[in-house]
Amino acid sequence: MRVLVVGGAGYIGSHMVKMLLANDHQVITLDNLSSGHRDAVLGGTFVEGDLADVAFLNKVFTEHQPEAVMHFASFIQVGESVRKPDIYYRNNVTNTLNLLDTMLKFEVRKFIFSSTAAVFGEPDYVPIDEAHPNRPLNPYGRSKWMIEQVLADYDKAFGFKSVCLRYFNAAGADPEGQLGERHDPETHLIPLILQAASGRREHIQVFGRDYDTPDGTCIRDYIHIVDLCAAHLAALTYLKNGGDSDRFNLGNGAGFSVQAVIDAVQQISGKHVQVIDGPRREGDPARLVADATRARHILGWAPVFTDLETIVAHAWQWEQKQVGH
Ligand code: UFG
Repeated sequence: MRVLVVGGAGYIGSHMVKMLLANDHQVITLDNLSSGHRDAVLGGTFVEGDLADVAFLNKVFTEHQPEAVMHFASFIQVGESVRKPDIYYRNNVTNTLNLLDTMLKFEVRKFIFSSTAAVFGEPDYVPIDEAHPNRPLNPYGRSKWMIEQVLADYDKAFGFKSVCLRYFNAAGADPEGQLGERHDPETHLIPLILQAASGRREHIQVFGRDYDTPDGTCIRDYIHIVDLCAAHLAALTYLKNGGDSDRFNLGNGAGFSVQAVIDAVQQISGKHVQVIDGPRREGDPARLVADATRARHILGWAPVFTDLETIVAHAWQWEQKQVGH
């Protein structure tokens, strides 16, 4: 298919572009390079521009005639979204509406949306399935939940078919070492610990050791970026085959504590990581683990890189490349 990948120069988008190309799809990457990297787009067509620019979007759809769209371009920092809700709603909601309305205009009705575990808020139970209530706790989570609801309405009114994929903790890197995580500033746990291991950072701070978990640190469901992208590929096939709009939680179903991740990094890298114990970070639930049974059944998806060591090893390979080893 001809697939427009919005945000294809970012961490997840760039791995997706690589996978789509490897599976013989035609790829058009659209990115404003506000946080993405041009050199992370390994092939296909690249167009630089912004979703705020509707005339530009019209031009892209006229020239490239995509058959399906994957949308990875959004702001992703929970804390920042609390301080600057205006830019989160403008980018994650208004700009996404521009994209959706351009798709309608050009009669492109297959959409894969990067959603998040943050649409659930503090969980009532884990693992979290799709039936869990949605009570997002911050503007970031709310912006994603708003779009999920818009998509349900667009389906009813316009027959617009979408798959919302709620990512838990995207992690790891391209096993071939070509791509990885390059956020600035970096806020995610695994790259931060790896930077502490490689010497790019002095230490890692653990945000709270007094949670109700076996070692007192928070538990998250780290899902390998390649498995995450494989779910998008399966969703694309699903929509192509006439699948109905749906939402899926994506994770391994296994949770790892912050301390377990630190231990894994030390073991894989052979480096000592200096750890400082800090206070809890506001809004962090003790445990976030996905129940991805639905994605397995309906999309026929199964994660491959489920052990923490492999996830960390691939990310460590990338980190070493960043420091020039
Ligand atoms: N953590 C630390 N120290 C750090 C950074 C993180 O102890 O320096 C801890 C956090 O408290 C958390 C865990 O490591 O327990 C993972 O934190 P991340 O920031 O890497 O990821 P989050 O689970 O907070 O966030 C992820 C996505 C968000 C999404 C959220 C859904 O990155 O985009 O899940 O709840 F919103």
